[in-house]
Amino acid sequence: MRVTVFGTGYVGLVTGTCLAEVGNQVVCVDIDAAKVEGLNRGVIPIYEPGLEDMVLANHGAGRIAFTTDATSAIAHGEIIFIAVGTPPDEDGSADLQYVLAVARTIGQNLGKRAVIVNKSTVPVGTADKVRATVAAELAKRGADVPFEVVSNPEFLKEGDAVKDCMRPDRIVVGSSSPSALEAMKRLYAPFNRNHERIVAMDVRSAELTKYAANAMLATKISFMNEMANIAERVGADIEMVRHGIGSDPRIGYSFIYPGAGYGGSCFPKDVQALERTARQHGYHAQILEAVEAVNDRQKHKLFELIARHFRGELRGRTFAVWGLAFKPNTDDMREASSRTLLAQLWEAGAQVRAHDPEASEEAQRIFGERADLVLCDSAASALKGADALVVVTEWKKFLNPDFDQLKAALKHPVVFDGRNIYEPAEVEAAGLAYYGIGRGRTIAAKE
Ligand code: UDX
Repeated sequence: MRVTVFGTGYVGLVTGTCLAEVGNQVVCVDIDAAKVEGLNRGVIPIYEPGLEDMVLANHGAGRIAFTTDATSAIAHGEIIFIAVGTPPDEDGSADLQYVLAVARTIGQNLGKRAVIVNKSTVPVGTADKVRATVAAELAKRGADVPFEVVSNPEFLKEGDAVKDCMRPDRIVVGSSSPSALEAMKRLYAPFNRNHERIVAMDVRSAELTKYAANAMLATKISFMNEMANIAERVGADIEMVRHGIGSDPRIGYSFIYPGAGYGGSCFPKDVQALERTARQHGYHAQILEAVEAVNDRQKHKLFELIARHFRGELRGRTFAVWGLAFKPNTDDMREASSRTLLAQLWEAGAQVRAHDPEASEEAQRIFGERADLVLCDSAASALKGADALVVVTEWKKFLNPDFDQLKAALKHPVVFDGRNIYEPAEVEAAGLAYYGIGRGRTIAAKE
């Protein structure tokens, strides 16, 4: 099929590439000329496992093209995806200006029947706004072109985006038009083998499904972080508790890892936006509010442990920080817990030597040159001259360090484990002090 994708960010680029991979003719449009020019030269603006090879192969085979020319791109597509950003505006609501600007452009240019697909995470009711915007532009130029607007939220995880896109566990399609649903089914047929993955529903339910999924996952995390904080106080180990509850299939093991808080481009923004949507409809979403509050507090957790250990004397100390990205396998630092930690350490007069396998460039871009930050190109070099080690992101390469070497490298042999990736007993056996999240048993034993 002929597919157009507006937006070459995370969602747009991955979606367009995967659709090209299964044989569609895809044109991706972006207003950022430098980005488009880069993509045409094979420069992939984001780090995502498997994406670069797939873009290059499909670009080489002529199945995917990148352009800034919206007019020709609209003429190309029988299915037109809107996958542009919806950043939070000042009050936390999703800012729809980019989505609606694309809708206007489509309305100004559409010359033949098309299905317009909302892929961006947008508040309930946005598809109706897109429909009205396109219709208004068509009316302005007296054009009578049939079109449908469909909601097809994405559920990609950064770091697994290509896999999630190629092998989705569900494909939510919100549509009031049987012909648009048919077109979507044809488009997704290659991803829909063996068992039915398409969940067809009305547009508003599809729009809410996306927020409900992310809010549920964020709730699981904040719930576990709350349990961890209780565990710590009553002398229990949240890791034991996690196993104990996860074995109940109604609860399950996934997404119940306590830690230094969730970050990324989705959970913080979507929980907030859903809360605002509820408020706009006269409902006070208390759970969502609590999920957000618990997470904000949790992002301060590592600093609290550090400050307590060093009795508030942090000025002039140096901390090795392993992991800056909001999670492993990405260079994304949006809303990352590391940012809260670094800001607090700096505020307290400490120095940071940080290592992240992928996010150094991003850190450089965010923080610029500063005397109290050294970005190191290896985990070992981050330890040089450091008082203590703080693990913020659970990259694979951090999972099995040589604790004897760690002890030798650190001035104060202490490890702050923000993701509970180490066995306290093993760390302590090497003569290092250990702090995790909610591991009251070990803290109690030390006191
Ligand atoms: C998320 C959703 O998983 C995805 O379906 C949606 O489309 C976009 O938002 P993503 O933001 O890429 O994806 O990351 P995810 O793997 O979900 O992790 C989010 C954050 O939660 C990370 O900071 C991670 O460290 C944290 N997390 C995750 C926990 O603290 N504990 C857990 O048990 C799981």
